[in-house]
Amino acid sequence: MNTICPETKIRDASLAVTGAETTFVDGWSIHTFEQLPSTNSVAAPFPAWSAVRARVQTAGRGRTGRAWVSNRGGLWLSAVLPCPAEESVWPFLPLAVGWGLQRCFRHLGLHGVRLRWPNDLMVGRQKLAGILVERFNPGCIVVGVGVNVFNFPEAVRTDLGGFVTRLADHLDQPDNLEILTRKILRVLRNTHDELWCRGFRPIAAELNSTWLEPQKVRLLTQPDVPPVVGQFLGIDAEGRLRVRGDDHAVTAFDANQVSLLTEIE
Ligand code: BTN
Repeated sequence: MNTICPETKIRDASLAVTGAETTFVDGWSIHTFEQLPSTNSVAAPFPAWSAVRARVQTAGRGRTGRAWVSNRGGLWLSAVLPCPAEESVWPFLPLAVGWGLQRCFRHLGLHGVRLRWPNDLMVGRQKLAGILVERFNPGCIVVGVGVNVFNFPEAVRTDLGGFVTRLADHLDQPDNLEILTRKILRVLRNTHDELWCRGFRPIAAELNSTWLEPQKVRLLTQPDVPPVVGQFLGIDAEGRLRVRGDDHAVTAFDANQVSLLTEIE
């Protein structure tokens, strides 16, 4: 049987960090560290239903290798979920997680939150949270969730000023990070169950009924290729972005074909 001993890996991880604290809640083993480079990397060898959290990340990363500011006061969490399916399911995983998080934030009272394809939670034009799904081992995926809660990312990177927001800007009393962690892990379990019982189609249909009106988007695809500009038409059943160009042709883009999406209207 191919099992991974979590204790061994915790010991490995604690070679590089100190202060790991483990709790068992709702069927999850949650390992909380004071500081880590990236929770996704540390979570990689853990078995399904483990979660790794850090109060600070020193090398947090986002989609396409971009740096993710992870200062104190934010929620930096990686959850390991079972995922026996192969690569064909990948494109829609961040969208399914985003769908779950959007509902979670709305339950918390943040009604204006929306998902921006493929992995951003936005309030208006400002980014609240991001999702990074990675696969390090067969049979599991690591779902990384970064949420600005009490932190100011723009205090670390001034160029983010005006482009980011945090839960504390919108809720009178946001949950503390421990409670929020539990709520998000519950959402991830429910999203997992929903996805594997009913598939992505119902989630895609719900997302397509909740996007805001068609917007104009600019997509960076490959280096040295001019950006694609067109009307956002929602997603297809595989989670690909559908865009109508000026020539009226509709093209579907996989998340790994688009390095940057900008909403321009
Ligand atoms: C993005 O917006 O491109 C995704 C950001 C994902 C950030 C989270 S924070 C927890 C986990 N660890 C990482 O290094 N990244 C993810």
